[in-house]
Amino acid sequence: MRAHRVFAAVYDRMAASAERHVLGERRQRLLGGLTGRVLDVGAGTGVNLDHVRGADELVLAEPDPAMRAKLHRKLDRAHVPVRVSEAAAEALPFEDASFDAVVCSLVLCTVTDPARALAEARRVLRPGGTLVLLEHVRGTGGQARWQDRVTPLWKRLGAGCHPNRNTRAAVENAGFTLTRVDETLIGPRWVPVSPLLEATARPS
Ligand SMILES: C[S@@+](CC[C@H](N)C(=O)[O-])C[C@H]1O[C@@H](n2cnc3c(N)ncnc32)[C@H](O)[C@@H]1O
Repeated sequence: MRAHRVFAAVYDRMAASAERHVLGERRQRLLGGLTGRVLDVGAGTGVNLDHVRGADELVLAEPDPAMRAKLHRKLDRAHVPVRVSEAAAEALPFEDASFDAVVCSLVLCTVTDPARALAEARRVLRPGGTLVLLEHVRGTGGQARWQDRVTPLWKRLGAGCHPNRNTRAAVENAGFTLTRVDETLIGPRWVPVSPLLEATARPS
């Protein structure tokens, strides 16, 4: 994958207010209780490091070299043993059923092939394991049409981010059952990265 240097350089500063007001508490709720082996797909600059506290091991998979460089600089914040991988979500170099939890936070909007990424997440999750989702998703009606219109420009500015993906349907189509779902508008309807889906799912 090519390095998105500017995106990586500004990501933490750009997201700081959203982390404080919207995302941080959700990450805490979703990640604070995870145990066993945990895989963070598209780990970015390592924002989830602060929140995973009970795992035996946290594997951080991040294919973008610029984001990975930022991530490496944050590893001393980890509360649990960590390992960094260059793997893309669509081709995870891990054994079947080798993780207790797979985390996708703000990443299924960006991966090249969400269906393949979710199939890989399902493959590496043990039976009864947990898929953790914190994703901005497609709205409804006029909001969805607006998201479709802004997606070409948004993708260019946001390192490949699609605001118009129906991630909840993709998760269900990939053979997961949602076990906890909260979908909330996090701003006015013209904000492309709203609604926000906070959910957990299990392989069906
Ligand atoms: C918006 S950032 C989110 C980072 C982090 N998960 C978070 O919650 O802050 C999206 C991340 O997905 C990564 N990404 C893009 N395509 C990917 C792929 N095919 N497989 C895995 N990660 C990917 C990007 O490099 C970037 O780090």
